[in-house]
Amino acid sequence: MTGKIKKVRKAVLPVAGLGTRFLPATKAIPKEMLTVVDKPLIQYAVEECIASGIEHVIFVTGRRKSAIEDHFDLAPELESFLIERGKPEHAKMVREISGGLHFSYTRQSEALGLGHAVLCAAELVGDEPFAVLLGDVIMEGKVPATRELIDIYEATGGGAIHVERVPRERVHLYGIIDGVPEEGTRFGDRLLRVKDLVEKPSADKAPSNLGVTGRYVLPPEIFEYLENTKPGAGGEIQLTDGLRRLAEDNKLFACIYDGKTYDAGDKLGFLQATVEMGLKNPKLGPDFRAYLQGLKL
Ligand code: UTP
Repeated sequence: MTGKIKKVRKAVLPVAGLGTRFLPATKAIPKEMLTVVDKPLIQYAVEECIASGIEHVIFVTGRRKSAIEDHFDLAPELESFLIERGKPEHAKMVREISGGLHFSYTRQSEALGLGHAVLCAAELVGDEPFAVLLGDVIMEGKVPATRELIDIYEATGGGAIHVERVPRERVHLYGIIDGVPEEGTRFGDRLLRVKDLVEKPSADKAPSNLGVTGRYVLPPEIFEYLENTKPGAGGEIQLTDGLRRLAEDNKLFACIYDGKTYDAGDKLGFLQATVEMGLKNPKLGPDFRAYLQGLKL
């Protein structure tokens, strides 16, 4: 089976959502360009792609998202300016943002759901497995989250997603899986075979407390499943519907993530990411910690 498995080279980053939870900040600025410490959210996802061995990033963009394209483009004038002003390290930092990746852009003209956004990338992905990263979710762990999913895909030949335990009062905000332990793999008891998924269930209907985080590695069959999905409320096509079809075919695995997930598309998650990433920052961390400890609230 392993002989037939193609390498995962491409990643789809859907960034066409409207970011309504972050209005008014997102009226003119893409949510994915909001800054956590000193980098826009989307740069964390792109750095995860680089660390995971991805070669080609496909952005699914929409209107008012051109700042993302500019951020990952070369900026020769800015680099020359920084060098002339004696700031070669800043020039290097600007040049290295794109990390040698190949970038493509396609449009989702209307924000018709995550599944629809992924489907918009079908032609650029072609007939090969690919990763999906939600640009407003930061995943911090020993092994890059997408790398771990690629390893699971390569070992099993099935789609792979990360899940995390969520408190009962928050399950209605997540896609929740119904899974059984997958025995005898090198991934141990963190690996489950997914039997079913439910999008945003009420706490009493949730099949577990394992919520989908925002990282996926999927086989190309997912496009066919999404094409055949009937739009739900608001004309939206959810990625969960395609994932359910993979699960029906016994071709979907979930890995319980052992790092830290920040849902920075949500205001509280964004503040948590800012504080924790600020504390971890080698230059800022000590002063920021002292500041927080001195706060009298
Ligand atoms: P979210 O649901 O968090 O993003 O989707 P949103 O719709 O922009 O945010 P709210 O709920 O209105 O505040 C997760 C990711 O999927 C993208 C978003 O841009 C975000 O990065 N997305 C979502 C699309 O590209 N297209 C869509 O139709 C929906």
